[in-house]
Amino acid sequence: MKRSIKKTTIKKTAAKKNANTMWGGRFVTGPDALMARINASIDFDKRLYAQDIAASIAHARMLGKQRIIAAKDVTAIVNGLQKILQQIETGAFEFKTELEDIHLNVEKRLTDMIGPAGGRLHTGRSRNDQVATDFRLWVRDCIDATDRALQALQEALIAKAEAHAATVMPGFTHLQSAQPVTFGHHMLAYVEMIGRDRGRFMDARARVNESPLGAAALAGTSFPIDREATAKALGFARPLANSMDAVSARDFALEFLAACAICATHLSRLAEELVIWSSPQFAFVKLSDGFTTGSSIMPQKRNPDAAELIRAKTGRIAGALVGLLTVMKGLPLAYSKDMQEDKEPVFDAADSLSLSIHAMTGMMSSLKVNEARLRDAASAGFSTATDLADWLVREANLPFRDAHHVTGGLVKLAESKKCELADLSLKELQAADKRITKSVYGVLSVDKSVASRTSLGGTAPTRVRAAAKAARKTFLKG
Ligand code: ARG
Repeated sequence: MKRSIKKTTIKKTAAKKNANTMWGGRFVTGPDALMARINASIDFDKRLYAQDIAASIAHARMLGKQRIIAAKDVTAIVNGLQKILQQIETGAFEFKTELEDIHLNVEKRLTDMIGPAGGRLHTGRSRNDQVATDFRLWVRDCIDATDRALQALQEALIAKAEAHAATVMPGFTHLQSAQPVTFGHHMLAYVEMIGRDRGRFMDARARVNESPLGAAALAGTSFPIDREATAKALGFARPLANSMDAVSARDFALEFLAACAICATHLSRLAEELVIWSSPQFAFVKLSDGFTTGSSIMPQKRNPDAAELIRAKTGRIAGALVGLLTVMKGLPLAYSKDMQEDKEPVFDAADSLSLSIHAMTGMMSSLKVNEARLRDAASAGFSTATDLADWLVREANLPFRDAHHVTGGLVKLAESKKCELADLSLKELQAADKRITKSVYGVLSVDKSVASRTSLGGTAPTRVRAAAKAARKTFLKG
């Protein structure tokens, strides 16, 4: 049975067609069916259609201006390309696998539409500089969209920070209650991370934004092209300086993926916190109906699927970076077909990240914070022990290490009595250190604790309000 299936497959793949009309001059037969399948990228690179057409229009106009092709041919080419753009956008364009990729699909259609003038478009360029140009334009657009999405997420987080600038909650280290903080402060930590993510994307953008067009196959061209003009027409800052580098560089895609992976990693940390916080055992927050799912068997369940999926998508985004690094490792200059494998990881990472950012924004905007529960949790676990130690240093002049020791003894006592530090009597406190006075109770409450953390970058509500205001100015202008 197995054998016969194999036979038919082989038989099918052996069928050869006529040679490719775009490059098949020296070929007698067309590619094997398997060759066509492994070679074709149209299924995924059709996403570059708008960039491909924009770059072709810029190239054609430049060729005309430089008198490399006739003005009437430029007009026919540009009109034809604009029609093709419309056809693609209305779904009237039929993409053909035998035409391999977006570049040949568009060019073949153009020639079918306008005749031999279409064949002049490819003067002084190659698919190697063409694909690098299209891809850089695509990544640049994607960076701009990502920046806008991240800004919207920051806005949602800042709004939560403002609403909860004084909402106390436990701050954790090692996922153990450490010191009380405010919910707003916690939100602003993510606003900062995302601010750096946006910075990384913008840094990458500066290096993406250089034009390979006109590098041709690898060596440049003998035609008197104007690379400055095409770079300018496409909004690039400048042409890439070296034609071999221009067609073989993919560090712009790697850098984009690295920025995606770091950003996704940040989102995964918030996602993880939402999973923990929304569990009934914690009950710090309630996720909205819109961003949770129920269980088909357990009616009480309210699952944080969106948060879990954001957490998980980090894996494929980081995988995309490692995948492309591996494709590029050890590749000799200049272009190799290996580089066709650059697009799918970039598209997938970009789609996954975009979905994650938007879902996180929706989740955070619709999140309800359980203030009472946060307050209870903030006071549990001797979270003001550091405040007690600091009081001993400040008011009783103890060296910090001694104060730490005295406080440790009092934590032990409260633990054995199953009460909080603030529930210990003055007598019990003074038994540990006679210099303790009743004014110590002033620092044992969580509100006093957070209010006292007024150092730069600290969690005091006054600081959080000022930080939220500053964040608005830094991140949301524009
Ligand atoms: N589809 C190709 C890619 O994505 C375009 C460049 C092809 N160049 C070539 N010399 N075959 O890389």
